[in-house]
Amino acid sequence: MRVPRHVAIIMDGNGRWARARALPRPAGHRAGIKPVRMCIEQCATRGVEVLTVFAFSSENWKRPVAEVGLLMQLFLESLDRELEELAGRGIRVRFIGAREQLPAAVVASMELAESRTCDNDKLTLVVAFGYGGRWDIVSAARRLAIACRDGALAPEEIDEARLGAELALGDLPDPDLFIRTGGEQRISNFLLWNLAYTELWFTDTLWPSFDAAEFQQALDSYAERERRFGHTVPSSSADAC
Ligand code: IPE
Ligand code: IPE
Ligand code: MG
Repeated sequence: MRVPRHVAIIMDGNGRWARARALPRPAGHRAGIKPVRMCIEQCATRGVEVLTVFAFSSENWKRPVAEVGLLMQLFLESLDRELEELAGRGIRVRFIGAREQLPAAVVASMELAESRTCDNDKLTLVVAFGYGGRWDIVSAARRLAIACRDGALAPEEIDEARLGAELALGDLPDPDLFIRTGGEQRISNFLLWNLAYTELWFTDTLWPSFDAAEFQQALDSYAERERRFGHTVPSSSADAC
């Protein structure tokens, strides 16, 4: 079976999962940690090279202060709790997003996790936190503009490869499979550039209820897709123009 090299997930629906159970929203966010562990395990077992999960978007700063605080705290707790296990299982952890706005303790934990796992190569886990696809493209464009201003780069040298390499995931393959839980069929400012030819898979399941069986359904769907990247379908010579 064809396995994606890179799976990218928008983990959506924690709040609605909690509301459906008459629980406060934080309970939904807490319940959302288990499926993250499941996805990491599934990807590592099946030979997926990169798993990118969207945990906090640049627009999520607009949520009530209490919810933002809870998400920061939960992120810190989970990372501190899981780090040794991730490290021991050969998983490399990376974070993408604007770090300037994040609390210092969160940034310190990110840096520790990145340095503690930087030699691992079983699976790269990318956590998009404070991330926005537009921020990513603007940041890359700004770095190229600075290089031009400083004489290190000519504007004519800027092409897709050069800009793509400046993005947060510039050294990793583009996602092959995109999964979004929670019923919405939109990108919500996730990896705008990198998703250009990604296969998309949506489910109404709310993130805390997403399980290994459904993850397998997404992988099965991916295995059946015919990826053309703008080419024609591989065909018999009878179809030739
Ligand atoms: C996803 O769940 C988690 C984050 C965006 C941080 P939501 O909190 O968006 O849950 P819903 O979409 O309101 O149900
Ligand atoms: C996308 O979910 C961001 C994350 C899962 C981190 P949102 O709940 O923020 O997206 P919208 O607002 O429904 O588009
Ligand atoms: Mg949501």
